[in-house]
Amino acid sequence: MSDIGTVVSTADVIICCGSGGVGKTTTAAALGLQLAQIGRRTVVVTIDPARRLADALGLADGLTNEPTRLDIGLPPESVGELWAMMLDTAATFDGLVRANAPDAEQAERILTNRFYRNIAGALSGTQEYMAAEKLHALHADTRFDVVIVDTPPTRNALDFLDAPGTLARFLDHPLFKILMLPTRRGLKVLNVAAQPLLRTIAKVVGGDVLADAIAFFQAFAGMETGFRSRADEVMALLRSDVTRYVLVASPRADTVEEARYFAARLGDSHLPVGALIVNRATPSFPVPAGRRAARDAALWRNLDELNAIAAAEHIQLADLLVDVADAATVWVPLLASDVHDLTSLHQIRELLFAPALFDAEMSAE
Ligand SMILES: Nc1ncnc2c1ncn2[C@@H]1O[C@H](COP(=O)(O)OP(=O)(O)OP(=O)(O)O)[C@@H](O)[C@H]1O
Ligand SMILES: [Mg+2]
Repeated sequence: MSDIGTVVSTADVIICCGSGGVGKTTTAAALGLQLAQIGRRTVVVTIDPARRLADALGLADGLTNEPTRLDIGLPPESVGELWAMMLDTAATFDGLVRANAPDAEQAERILTNRFYRNIAGALSGTQEYMAAEKLHALHADTRFDVVIVDTPPTRNALDFLDAPGTLARFLDHPLFKILMLPTRRGLKVLNVAAQPLLRTIAKVVGGDVLADAIAFFQAFAGMETGFRSRADEVMALLRSDVTRYVLVASPRADTVEEARYFAARLGDSHLPVGALIVNRATPSFPVPAGRRAARDAALWRNLDELNAIAAAEHIQLADLLVDVADAATVWVPLLASDVHDLTSLHQIRELLFAPALFDAEMSAE
């Protein structure tokens, strides 16, 4: 088993995953602070549309689809930086269309197409796919050494691992090739509608919708090669050893089960869990030997109860710890309050990277 410092400090990409509310966003932000502090130019990207990342970083103004550099009080000579952004699926898709269309007129034809407007923000899978595109762009961006991805609170959070492959399969699909045909053969859209397959589709989805879709694919023609090669590149990146998976769990039966599901899902894709963070754990305390004074009975009961809960949590985690035996494991205690400013975020960072130091402080108090 390695330590978390080694796992994250040598990564180019870190994916934080886990079930809802366990502390993925908090962890992503705390890892960002640590990496910036050790001199890496770090960008944290959240796919979660809730404002949690901005909240964790104590940013009142929120975040946008473009990385914003944060003032985390590093000394001026420091080379490390912390940036953060929130994925906007539709804006990312628009940006890709503008960047990849051969000219402004073709970009405009796509951007104003009704079919495109409907899929750009809403189609299931588009968000996962755009997250993969964003990761690709940030990884290639020379401003950053490392990209930390905070995934959304769903069991499907890891779908973006498959999204690029799904796109590649779609581009290879015969239907897609048929939709591209009109431009290739120089035929009019209406002629295509005469084909039996398209006639059937038109009956189901409506002729207008189909005409919009065909117009979209015509305008898209020629750009699919770029989308395809980026999809292949990001798939290779997600599978390479510069990408590390950090699984966040909390010691409750249901979230442990979810964490085991995520670990299994990563395992199915042959992706190792680099680190397991057991967040919001009940701290345990050493029990001093000797007689217990009667006047402190309530305090002793408290201590025994806390230690009993902590022991139960360790039992709860046992199977997961076996599942990810090769991962660096860190226990982070539940703090007295939520994490929504830099001070408490630093506290989490210290608990992650210098737990021994923190234990000593706690027992000295
Ligand atoms: N160790 C901790 N001690 C106290 N509060 C914590 C700790 N870790 C996280 N929190 C708080 O728990 C809440 C959930 O954390 P966070 O938003 O990071 O979870 P998440 O896994 O990203 O959630 P979601 O699945 O909704 O995106 C937040 O209010 C956060 O401040
Ligand atoms: Mg979150």
